[in-house]
Amino acid sequence: MSSSSTALSTSLLDTLSLTDRDILNLFEKADQLDHLGNAHGHFYSPGQAPSGRVVGCLFFEASTRTRMSFQMAAYRLGHQVLTMEMNAASSLSKGETYEDTVLNIAAMKPDVLVVRYGNSVELDQLLPTLPMPVLNAGSGVAAHPTQALLDSYTIRKELGGVAGKKVLIVGDIKHSRVARSNFDVLLKLGAEVAVAGPDAMIPDDLPKNVKRVEIIEDGLKWADVYMGLRIQVERHSAERNIGSDSSLKSNDDYHNRFGLNQPRLNLLKKQSIVLHPGPINHGVEFSHDVAKDPRNRVLNQVTNGVLIRASLLQRALHV
Ligand code: NCD
Repeated sequence: MSSSSTALSTSLLDTLSLTDRDILNLFEKADQLDHLGNAHGHFYSPGQAPSGRVVGCLFFEASTRTRMSFQMAAYRLGHQVLTMEMNAASSLSKGETYEDTVLNIAAMKPDVLVVRYGNSVELDQLLPTLPMPVLNAGSGVAAHPTQALLDSYTIRKELGGVAGKKVLIVGDIKHSRVARSNFDVLLKLGAEVAVAGPDAMIPDDLPKNVKRVEIIEDGLKWADVYMGLRIQVERHSAERNIGSDSSLKSNDDYHNRFGLNQPRLNLLKKQSIVLHPGPINHGVEFSHDVAKDPRNRVLNQVTNGVLIRASLLQRALHV
């Protein structure tokens, strides 16, 4: 195998490349790292020297959780981190292309690259050819593999497994890479998946095993897991407000029709859980009642995200 095909075998560009067994292996690794972290404060055994590899992080789109979660995972594993963000300090502001930026950082030979980017066929084609493993930290509307993995890992931890669980994903499904990757991971692990949202935010090409719930109240009574998603305003092309559903007038209107609030929380089963990948727009997809609800697991997702990303870094670095 060439070095790029070796690297590709431990890259994670899309969850489509993972089998259900691969996913469960990552979860088991995350459990082990969790135990090490609880016992020692870092993700390696006492006496085991950290490998001190270099993780290169390239974020061409905004990020809080994913970026810092990868950094935290790398530090807890004892690695060094190089991070480049989209701002005036980078040569992107001088007109350098994303491809040239990636090629230049790759030429410095970090041991693994973590990349977040908008829709870009050029980067989709370039990343699999690099000589080091690449972890996708979110690519356009296409994929957000680490988010979907941490979501299922959270469901497994909180509800004892993913198979047979009923997951309702509510919001801007059409423009959401989180929804797309979640369909793949949840269905592979045997969950039942349904979506709800305004017409303009439901894609025409839903996977055949994903059903659409027309009446949100029916979905709430059905769900073991409620996953809220942010309206991806930055990805709406024509009208930069709330998609092309002319029946939706405002954020308040969205909240009234699809937002999770106290009356809707009352319909959700007592043992169900509420997830959201963040960032949350309070008063739009969630009312303030959600933060106080005991079924809210949003910060557990964030904690679990560090374990999943550490598990993926270890797989990429063969440690
Ligand atoms: C998501 C993303 O960037 O796709 N956020 C995240 O990574 N936690 C969701 C979003 O931006 O709404």
